[in-house]
Amino acid sequence: MGRFDGRVAIVTGAARGIGFGIAQRFASEGASIAVLDLDGDAAADAAGRLELADGARAVGVACDVADASSAEAAVEQVVADLGAVHILVNNAGVTRDNLLFKMTEDDWDTVMGVHLKGAFNMTKAAQKHFVEQKYGKVLNLSSVSALGNRGQANYSAAKMGIQGFTRTLALELGPFGVNANAVAPGFIVTEMTDATARRLKMEPEELQRLNAESTPVRRVGQPEDIAAAAAFLCSDEASFITGQTLYVDGGRKVG
Ligand code: NAI
Repeated sequence: MGRFDGRVAIVTGAARGIGFGIAQRFASEGASIAVLDLDGDAAADAAGRLELADGARAVGVACDVADASSAEAAVEQVVADLGAVHILVNNAGVTRDNLLFKMTEDDWDTVMGVHLKGAFNMTKAAQKHFVEQKYGKVLNLSSVSALGNRGQANYSAAKMGIQGFTRTLALELGPFGVNANAVAPGFIVTEMTDATARRLKMEPEELQRLNAESTPVRRVGQPEDIAAAAAFLCSDEASFITGQTLYVDGGRKVG
């Protein structure tokens, strides 16, 4: 018996990194999975790599979450292919870091478009199924950067915006059996943080070491750390928890 037996979960940006980690964890607990990502081939490849429970299925769907019609079409395709949608994880993300005086309008719009509008587009498309079946879980990816981070005016604003969005979803959708929560990761080893290292002209391992040193638990995070929290928040054990943001950051926020 898995916590997600018979459930269908959509995870956006799940071709790699944290999204793939969450998809794999949900699959290991019985869920059928829709891997949504920009590149349909990468999404299908990731879906093919998931280790599924008996009777569960996985599909890869090309989707640009920043585009409302693409998000809507992807959700409808998942419902057609997998029969329903019960869980939505808004994980897709990009960075366009720069100090404010160098940040372009495009840097701002791109980050807002993927994180904030993307979460809005996907949640709007999924909520009608959730409300109809009186059941749904939304999990949004925020970040410790929501609290402010040099070079990330766009990303930090989007990630704090996600927390307000999450609280409002909890208020509006709670009466319809829908829980909405967020996780705010600290430093997690993925291609996103590897790219940050390269931008700072460092080896990824060097940036990881520096971050581990300034983290109370003295290590950096792995996608599995976020996946464990995601699985709890999207499970029925957490059905009295909604509107919350859980920092999964090795103590960075308090440190
Ligand atoms: P990643 O860069 O490894 O993976 C992001 C995935 O999102 C990629 O597969 C990419 O193709 C996909 N994606 C990008 N734009 C998309 C779009 N418009 N539509 C659909 N898919 C799109 O990133 P990572 O590190 O796995 O991050 C996942 C989430 O976690 C992001 O929301 C990120 O902001 C958040 N996060 C990551 C942290 C970290 O340290 N890695 C820390 C805090 C938050």
